[in-house]
Amino acid sequence: MHNPALQACGIEAQYVRVQVPVGQVKQAFALFAKQGFLGVNITIPHKFEALEVVDELDPLARQLGAVNTLAIRDGRLHGYNTDGPGFLRSVKEAFGAEVKDLSLLILGAAGGAGRAVAVQSVLSGCRHLVLANRTESKLAPLLTELAGLHDGSLAVKTCSLEPNNLAQMLPDVDIIVNATSVGMKADDAPLLPVGCLTKNHGVYDMVYRASGPTDLITQAIQAEARHADGMCLLLHQGAISFEHWFNRPAPLEAMRAGLMAAQG
Ligand SMILES: NC(=O)c1ccc[n+]([C@@H]2O[C@H](COP(=O)([O-])OP(=O)(O)OC[C@H]3O[C@@H](n4cnc5c(N)ncnc54)[C@H](OP(=O)(O)O)[C@@H]3O)[C@@H](O)[C@H]2O)c1
Repeated sequence: MHNPALQACGIEAQYVRVQVPVGQVKQAFALFAKQGFLGVNITIPHKFEALEVVDELDPLARQLGAVNTLAIRDGRLHGYNTDGPGFLRSVKEAFGAEVKDLSLLILGAAGGAGRAVAVQSVLSGCRHLVLANRTESKLAPLLTELAGLHDGSLAVKTCSLEPNNLAQMLPDVDIIVNATSVGMKADDAPLLPVGCLTKNHGVYDMVYRASGPTDLITQAIQAEARHADGMCLLLHQGAISFEHWFNRPAPLEAMRAGLMAAQG
């Protein structure tokens, strides 16, 4: 999506993939700066290491606990997180709603992506939040952290992924976010009990699979619920990266077309 964006804006630059060994992010960033790179996207497993080695850390990246975008200006490394703001934009696009007006259930809230969505949702003033995780005990530190981000008026509930627990939470929820890795494989077991979605729910599956819709998205289609998959987040977090690098609006439609072409 970035090469079509560069082309659409007439910018003479290229987006390339570089594989960096774990533990060598600092050395890689120094090399990128020396070689005249303008910026970098950082993905699994480097987002946490990147946070430690930038010169300037954006306050939101600090709160979200990870850096996925680097802008290199005058040799200095500026670290950002575009997953959180990308989530807000993609929810607006997919569901026509602002996170501040929504009640959310986050499946896999204790993972890296789930935690970022939870923190961003609280910072945006969401109405109500349910945090669910396979290992429920892992939610305790996040719950403490979130308590420091709001004035006490937000009700945050937690539960496991056990079907009966989830079914009890669903009537009070607008959007269900899947931030677990379930759905990446075609034979993954369903996350939600069959028949528990209604057409009033929105389903946001952060997973994207080239081979076709995930089980969760299929369940949403069957329930006539609005839905979005991980491509939507990929697009919007990428657009925000572009804005950090070039200080101009991203050519969103060129990027969307590039993503769709790459998907085949
Ligand atoms: N679209 C995008 O741009 C985008 C961006 C970021 C992430 N993602 C996707 O989000 C997903 C999570 O990524 P991450 O970086 O947060 O990974 P992570 O930190 O490893 O977290 C994984 C989460 O999935 C849960 N999980 C794993 N296997 C499970 C299973 N069999 N049943 C139920 N829960 C299970 C884990 O629960 P436990 O705590 O119990 O282990 C944990 O909550 C991945 O699929 C990734 O591709 C997409």
